[in-house]
Amino acid sequence: MGNIFMKKCKDVFEVTKNFIDNHKLKKNYDFLVVDFHGEITSEKMAIGHYLDGNATIVVGTHTHVPTNDARILENGTAYLTDAGMCGDYDSVIGMNKQNSINRFFKRDSQKHFPAKGEATLCGMIVDANENNGLAKSVSSFIYGGKLNNNT
Ligand SMILES: [Fe+2]
Repeated sequence: MGNIFMKKCKDVFEVTKNFIDNHKLKKNYDFLVVDFHGEITSEKMAIGHYLDGNATIVVGTHTHVPTNDARILENGTAYLTDAGMCGDYDSVIGMNKQNSINRFFKRDSQKHFPAKGEATLCGMIVDANENNGLAKSVSSFIYGGKLNNNT
């Protein structure tokens, strides 16, 4: 979990440092996939660079909005700032758009509920090297629904 604009939790950089100081690729596991659940892009990028070479994948989640920056970092970690969501993009991050607008205006509204249109599937595909646990190739995809498809 990120620390900025998120529920209070431990310092994510200190927790990450402590983890990688005590766990190593190919010693403790074959591959390491880090799902960084955070609100802001800079915090996700910083964790990606900090873990570069120590994780197979660092992928951000939480915003529900896919970013277009999938790449392999300098030391071999596949990185994507945010994978996006699997849901209806004719919405406000997957929730019914009119109800969400009403909530922002503090009008009569209900608890958030999902939009029910055609879903878009978003994600990333990584091919990893089983000898060193690092990425060989990475791509992101957007399939179906309201977003422009790039596959
Ligand atoms: Fe979340």
